[in-house]
Amino acid sequence: MVLLHGKLKQMVKLNIFIFSFFLNSIVLSNEIITIEIDGSNLPETQGEVLRGEKIFKENCSKCHGYSAEGLTAPELVGRNKLSGDNVSKTVGNFWPYAPKIFDFIKRAKRDTNDDYYSDEDVYSVTGYILKINDLFEGKIMDKKKLSGIIMPNKEGFIDFSN
Ligand code: HEC
Repeated sequence: MVLLHGKLKQMVKLNIFIFSFFLNSIVLSNEIITIEIDGSNLPETQGEVLRGEKIFKENCSKCHGYSAEGLTAPELVGRNKLSGDNVSKTVGNFWPYAPKIFDFIKRAKRDTNDDYYSDEDVYSVTGYILKINDLFEGKIMDKKKLSGIIMPNKEGFIDFSN
């Protein structure tokens, strides 16, 4: 009896272990990773700029304006100087690293009932935003292309890394 009890305990422990392992993997698969500035850990998939335009017009323009010119939310397009009066920071003139645009859009959950966008959708809309900023000409956006884009303001920040 004692032996059986011990075995039962062991089995319960093992089951809890397996279950928590399983649960953990579900939680982890929903986790949003931080995309590095060099894009090295961007997902291995791709998105279409044309689809990105559709996603933008349907989901983003109500706050950012039909052509991303700004409405209740800031404009996302423009290359004005960052000095002088009425400075307007946009993706085109301010953001130093293109992979971070992916990171931002993937993370942002704008409407309370919105689900996070899929990686394909985020590539698509990132490609579209870069296109309207004249920083991307292709039809398909992926890890290699996004990591390769040199943003105009890349040198505009102080490097504290050394
Ligand atoms: C409910 C309104 C709303 C919707 C919808 C929305 N945004 Fe935004 N977005 C904002 C606000 C407000 C900010 C500025 C505050 C902030 O950075 O969180 C912002 C900031 C941003 C920025 C950073 C701008 C900058 O220069 O710092 C990007 C990029 C962006 N949004 C992209 C998108 C995309 C792409 C979509 C659609 C998939 C979207 N947004 C949908 C409200 C919205």
